[in-house]
Amino acid sequence: MSNKVTKAELTEFKKNKEKIKEFSNGEVTVFWQPELCIHSANCLIGLPEVFSTKKKPWVNVHASNTKAIMKIIDTCPSRALLYQKSSKFVTSKPRATVKKKAKFARVQILKNGPALITGNFIVRDQKRKKIKIENEVVAICRCGGSKKKPFCDGSHQAVGFKD
Ligand code: SF4
Ligand code: FES
Repeated sequence: MSNKVTKAELTEFKKNKEKIKEFSNGEVTVFWQPELCIHSANCLIGLPEVFSTKKKPWVNVHASNTKAIMKIIDTCPSRALLYQKSSKFVTSKPRATVKKKAKFARVQILKNGPALITGNFIVRDQKRKKIKIENEVVAICRCGGSKKKPFCDGSHQAVGFKD
């Protein structure tokens, strides 16, 4: 999964500047949308020198290299973290851009957290009405505490959900 920011997301960010935090090292800009964070901690575990809740600001894009930062951001399941490469960052081996559409949906249960669905899926509400999904991944609340049901809003931490 790539968490490269899309054009549509950038347009949305311009409208809601106050909700987005940006961090740049000149080669890459990291975007952080607190509202989307589901506290999976992939970023904190994967690259603690850059992502640390013990520091302010909690993202330090100067503490590692651009490639490592992008790699970890790609593991953020909720797209709370996104990035945009600048023209100053040149990779020796450009990645293939052709993406195959997934055949199946994959559901992953996060310990003490939501169920993540990726791949080829649709979500319908109780009346079978299709819910529009902007991202390639959704986090479905398992704790019952979310204010954005059926989606996770990170409240599982506040309610102390354990399994
Ligand atoms: S959802 Fe993304 S930003 Fe939030 S803790 Fe997990 S990896 Fe980090
Ligand atoms: S599982 Fe995250 S808010 Fe319920």
